[in-house]
Amino acid sequence: MSQYQIAVIVGSLRKDSFNRKLADAIVKLAPPEFTFKQVHIGDLPLYNQDDDENQAASVKRLKDDIKGAQGLLFVTPEYNHSIPGVLKNAIDHASQK
Ligand SMILES: Cc1cc2nc3c(=O)[nH]c(=O)nc-3n(C[C@H](O)[C@H](O)[C@H](O)COP(=O)(O)O)c2cc1C
Repeated sequence: MSQYQIAVIVGSLRKDSFNRKLADAIVKLAPPEFTFKQVHIGDLPLYNQDDDENQAASVKRLKDDIKGAQGLLFVTPEYNHSIPGVLKNAIDHASQK
């Protein structure tokens, strides 16, 4: 049976986040061939293209977590008809080399 690692990114930093609870429930209910890694985005610096050549340790960790996964699961609230800024910031970091 193949194993798949899924990186889980929650778009809310709130302590009692419903989306975090939902993500935890998905992890518990998933079939055994899936393992999950929670990706932390709360300590990422604000994305600045000037820092692309000198990335913070938290940015490198984010990219390593994603590279080590076969899939990405986003669980996020809607903020002002879009995704929260913290999630967009993480995507901007992860999308750069
Ligand atoms: C800044 C902000 C903007 C929001 N914008 C929306 C929205 O556009 N649509 C919506 O349905 N809910 C909106 N909400 C409500 C959140 O989706 C709701 O509070 C959700 O439970 C937050 O997720 P969490 O419990 O994982 O922190 C907004 C909440 C905040 C704080």
